[in-house]
Amino acid sequence: MNAERVLGGRVAVVTGASRGIGRAIAEELARAGADLCVTARHTQGLAETVTALRALGANAVGVAGSVADPAHLWEVTERTMAELGRVDVVVNNAATNQPYGPLMDADPEAWRTAFAVNVEAPLRLVQCAWRAWMSEHGGAVVNVCTEGAAHVGPHVGAYGTSKAALLHLTAQLAGELGPSVRVNSVSPGLVRTEMARFVWETAEETVAAGLPAGRIGEPADVARAVRWLVSDEASWITGADLLVDGGTRVRAASPTGDAHAVQRQLRHHFPGS
Ligand SMILES: NC(=O)c1ccc[n+]([C@@H]2O[C@H](COP(=O)([O-])OP(=O)(O)OC[C@H]3O[C@@H](n4cnc5c(N)ncnc54)[C@H](OP(=O)(O)O)[C@@H]3O)[C@@H](O)[C@H]2O)c1
Repeated sequence: MNAERVLGGRVAVVTGASRGIGRAIAEELARAGADLCVTARHTQGLAETVTALRALGANAVGVAGSVADPAHLWEVTERTMAELGRVDVVVNNAATNQPYGPLMDADPEAWRTAFAVNVEAPLRLVQCAWRAWMSEHGGAVVNVCTEGAAHVGPHVGAYGTSKAALLHLTAQLAGELGPSVRVNSVSPGLVRTEMARFVWETAEETVAAGLPAGRIGEPADVARAVRWLVSDEASWITGADLLVDGGTRVRAASPTGDAHAVQRQLRHHFPGS
């Protein structure tokens, strides 16, 4: 098999693929030979993604709607089966980082929406794919979580809590759906997309300087990790969370929150390293 076409003959669904990390994942999977069904709420960006995927040689279908709507998720599955014939891969990428602010002030409706989009929708889409294809034919699922789910933050409590739940859902589904279906997650650090613009537009240099990798992430960094996880090269990996964070967790684990402090500690403990 051509190593660059490791997903030849496979069909993938990627939610939230009109821009950012989801679009990069869809394009990476198309370059690896997959056909794709992509989703987003707004039609314009979605149509641009479909055009880009077709230019890469993939059969591509766009289905507009919110992942918070269970009927949309079933439509996505039915259209994928009807127009592409199978559902080998599901990438649950769409998410919301609302509501901001202290949880004591969190609006109950916004909290429910965060969980509907970030936790319930990934479960429902996997249920749909399982019933339509994966229970008989197998498959691979990747849930896009966040490195930040391991920390508490001043503004993103609902987001972090829901993504921590998605991490557990990943492990739970891996336990339930093996051996035929593998379920993993990726946890990005700060990536240059619309969702995180408020951070990197003001603090990119500071964040990058504190990272062992020396830069913030690009959508393609996450996309390559997802392509590998859904490929047969990762066939013994399920229930795992792959940090794609430029070393954010390493920095966060150091007593000073400083990547160079980690290096100094290592040199102290392992002279000559
Ligand atoms: N960027 C980061 O630094 C970062 C870090 C850690 C984790 N992540 C995770 O990475 C994933 C992608 O984020 P991103 O940064 O690429 O965000 P983004 O640039 O804002 O893109 C989000 C995508 O999801 C779609 N979307 C949003 N809500 C949706 C809904 N309810 N139903 C269907 N589609 C929806 C958007 O299109 P429409 O608006 O048209 O629906 C868009 O295509 C998310 O799971 C996020 O939590 C991002």
